Amino acid sequence: MAVRDFEAAARATLDPVHADFIAGGAHDEITVRANEAAFRRLRLLPRVLRGSAERELGVELPGARARMPVLLSPTAFHRLLVPEGEVAAARAAASAGALMIASMASTVAIGEVAEAARKAAPDGEQPALWFQLYIQPDLEITEALVRRAADAGCQALVVTVDSPVHGTHERNRRNGFHDLPPGLRCENLVDLRDGESGHVRQIVMSPEISWTQVDWLRRITDLPVLLKGVLHPEDARLAVRHGVDGLLLSNHGGRQLDTVPATLELLPEIAAAVGGRIPVILDGGVRRGTDVVKALALGASAVGIGRPVMWALADGGEAGVGRLLELLRDEVDDALALCGATGVRDVGPELVRPPAPPGR
Ligand code: FNR
Repeated sequence: MAVRDFEAAARATLDPVHADFIAGGAHDEITVRANEAAFRRLRLLPRVLRGSAERELGVELPGARARMPVLLSPTAFHRLLVPEGEVAAARAAASAGALMIASMASTVAIGEVAEAARKAAPDGEQPALWFQLYIQPDLEITEALVRRAADAGCQALVVTVDSPVHGTHERNRRNGFHDLPPGLRCENLVDLRDGESGHVRQIVMSPEISWTQVDWLRRITDLPVLLKGVLHPEDARLAVRHGVDGLLLSNHGGRQLDTVPATLELLPEIAAAVGGRIPVILDGGVRRGTDVVKALALGASAVGIGRPVMWALADGGEAGVGRLLELLRDEVDDALALCGATGVRDVGPELVRPPAPPGR
């Protein structure tokens, strides 16, 4: 079983329109393909005779500790795939000790997602749960969302900054898929103002959001704030200057601006810009344990997966995501052992070699 097999299994059961919603990217999907291709091109060059009987896979991240270096990037609309939706993903993540970033566009409210995670976590372990936020131009609404996430027990906020406007997904256009079907809604966006009853807001993508709102957010909350979708090294330096607590180096899985570089290609430059002052987490195209090790070696503190979680959910709900996380955990452990590494912190750039010539 490989991560790819989850995609095939999901395709076999899913409505093709929903399968396209998951697979798709912006415009020509050049960046979607580039993310995976970048991992395939890079080579690992292992050390020998220096390993250990067990590998340390745990990672410390802002506000949270996880038992594995692979986390669940935020993905919307889980109830399109299984009736329990985000609850299924949260349970599987909490059992596996993987950090989950719950999407603002979740079809289950964050309070319920957090409760499910707490119940599924092993005794005495606090599940690692962050909340992904699109800063809304209406700051009162944003503040209400932040309060919900904090009250639910989320340990950090991940502000997605690569979406000043919606990405253009031509597959969705062709399929006429624009919104959730009747009966499903973005539960975090219900009744955000006092006195409302059953009022669901649309998520507003606003090109006017700037560092001013990021600074404001840091003032109104004690939670660590990470930015998701910073790609330019100059913005990474600005993020450090503005006091953010971490970066999620992401091109939204190729779903926003098409033709941006693969995240893996940008990682060395972003890691250098940040200079170890804040953690950098990478997502986009991670499909194998060796991909995880390559990203860690080039300076990531952890990696995120998006589509694989959706495939596993569609294939088997909570059990499916459980199997996916176990598979990746085993592959990471195996790749670290084969690299002569004692754990996730024991890998550096000396373990990777430049891209092979095209076609290899
Ligand atoms: C996403 N992604 C995303 N990002 C975000 O910040 N908020 C969101 O609600 C969503 N929703 C979403 C839905 C679906 C179906 C996909 C595939 C992706 C982007 C996600 O967090 C992540 O950056 C990418 O999915 C990572 O790339 P891979 O692992 O899918 O290649």
